[in-house]
Amino acid sequence: MIISGSIEETRNQVKEWKRQGCRVGLVPTMGYLHEGHKSLMEAAKRENDKVAVSVFVNPIQFGPNEDFASYPRDFGQDAALCESVGVDLVFHPEAEEMYDEDFCTYVDMDGLTKELCGKSRPTHFRGVQTVVSKLFHIIPADRAYFGQKDAQQLAVIKKMVRDMSMDIEIVGCPIVREPDGLAKSSRNTYLNAEERQAALVLSRSLAEGRKLAKAGERNASRVKDAITGVIESEKFARIDYVEIVDFADITPLADLDHAKNGEILCAVAVYIGKTRLIDNFIMKL
Ligand code: PAJ
Repeated sequence: MIISGSIEETRNQVKEWKRQGCRVGLVPTMGYLHEGHKSLMEAAKRENDKVAVSVFVNPIQFGPNEDFASYPRDFGQDAALCESVGVDLVFHPEAEEMYDEDFCTYVDMDGLTKELCGKSRPTHFRGVQTVVSKLFHIIPADRAYFGQKDAQQLAVIKKMVRDMSMDIEIVGCPIVREPDGLAKSSRNTYLNAEERQAALVLSRSLAEGRKLAKAGERNASRVKDAITGVIESEKFARIDYVEIVDFADITPLADLDHAKNGEILCAVAVYIGKTRLIDNFIMKL
């Protein structure tokens, strides 16, 4: 397995694979890898000849009062996990390699990025789109893998690729959960024992919403109220948002039957103590 912090070396290696006719899969990550990331790597491994993983805590997608400095990092463990899955290349640059001192070009989007997480994290998706665009240029892969855990991010990346005519296929992968239902996240390490228990309210509330929708409820407000009620019953929880949107363009829905491609995204962001966690379900109606 090649480990490189150099843009030039990484690009030359991937170009060489392409010259040999290999199909290349890319898994962008911020490291502190867990089973969720591993499922993306395994999908990439199944569907491509070569797999590259990027491990980079991207400073420009964090707001000024967010957790960039404290975001968990353990590159030794990440490299070992990548090796065990059979990853061919890990791109692990320093921030200086990615962003020159006079860096001033960003990829931004109207619409989709203004809803859900965009409301409390106004510059987040600009940072994500910019780094992902850079990664697509550094690692000219055939396919890139993203988790539905970050459903809005997945929708934004798909839209960016379509709008910018980027030559790459975006593959969405299902959410991997702990046995008790908590969606796996690098940020779960911030939770103490009490908060870890309280965090179950995210998946529990969404299960309630899904049950209502499955039973035929089409009024989005009623589904959101049911979810909100469950979250408010947990004393460590504080709601950032509970929303139901059209998964195609992340616009709010009043009636679940009105999604353009018939796919709704029901998403929540909840503070458990100081830790902000997200979870969701996507439903085809
Ligand atoms: P990170 O949070 O490390 O996540 C990397 C990828 O793993 C994302 O596509 C995310 O959706 C996926 N993932 C995380 N937890 C998951 C879970 N429980 N089940 C399935 N997939 C999961 O998302 C980012 O990094 C960054 O924003 C990035 C795209 C790398 C840009 O910096």
